[in-house]
Amino acid sequence: MLTLKRRLPPEIKAVLRRVGAEMTEAWSRQYRLQAIVARPFRSSLDPLARIYGTDKSSRSHGYTSLYRAHLGARRRDVRCLLEIGIGGTTSLTGYDTSEGGQSLRMWQDYFPNARIIGIDIASKVVKGPRIFTEQGSQNDTRFLTDVAHRHGPFDVVIDDGSHLGPDVRISFETLFEHVAPGGVYIIEDLAAAYLAWGDIRGGPPGTPGTQMELLKELTDHVLRRWWDTGGTGHHLAAMHLYDQIAFLYRTP
Ligand SMILES: C[S@@+](CC[C@H](N)C(=O)[O-])C[C@H]1O[C@@H](n2cnc3c(N)ncnc32)[C@H](O)[C@@H]1O
Repeated sequence: MLTLKRRLPPEIKAVLRRVGAEMTEAWSRQYRLQAIVARPFRSSLDPLARIYGTDKSSRSHGYTSLYRAHLGARRRDVRCLLEIGIGGTTSLTGYDTSEGGQSLRMWQDYFPNARIIGIDIASKVVKGPRIFTEQGSQNDTRFLTDVAHRHGPFDVVIDDGSHLGPDVRISFETLFEHVAPGGVYIIEDLAAAYLAWGDIRGGPPGTPGTQMELLKELTDHVLRRWWDTGGTGHHLAAMHLYDQIAFLYRTP
């Protein structure tokens, strides 16, 4: 995409830059408007999700009712949330790198005392007084460890990134130890485990390397914890598995 962009004639590049600047301005107007509309709904997760346009809302995946059930009672106690996958797209012109951040904006409103950290493989700019973004891949252990040392420990970690089984495993194995005691690690869109399409190498139950195989392994950690000698899952106290989403709790 970058090579194609470099080859464009200067006048086309200038037009794209102008369109890009106008679109960025339009988006930032839209975000300002969303923040005003969202103000009365700060403790109501699904309306926030709809206003900011994340697919976690009841219009799409419908995860908000589960998030509310797990985190609603302690929304004021959450101090730091990390989400993998900021959302939005990066286009040919590069003008919409500020798009995305729908869920980060929602979390910022819902958790009034939390810093909200978003990581994404693509460059993203999401503005917000308590929002911080970092660029890197969820399968890069060194990057994740660096982010964890600078921003953690985390009360909540959400994996809504590539949805590739090996990436989900690397992220869990790197980040779960940076979840605060009693905190929760959430993995979304588990149906990808059963999908073989493009880079997604899922398949029927039992296909090696999927996120569902990771979760099956982790059930042993919950139940054998007292006899285990260590490992990433050693501090796993409970797992709640729902349609498409899992909540993994760290020991208090
Ligand atoms: C479904 S979107 C996230 C939506 C957002 N969390 C929300 O609810 O509004 C997935 C994001 O994951 C990012 N992504 C894909 N592969 C990734 C990787 N290996 N590491 C980090 N982010 C990745 C994509 O660039 C995209 O922005």
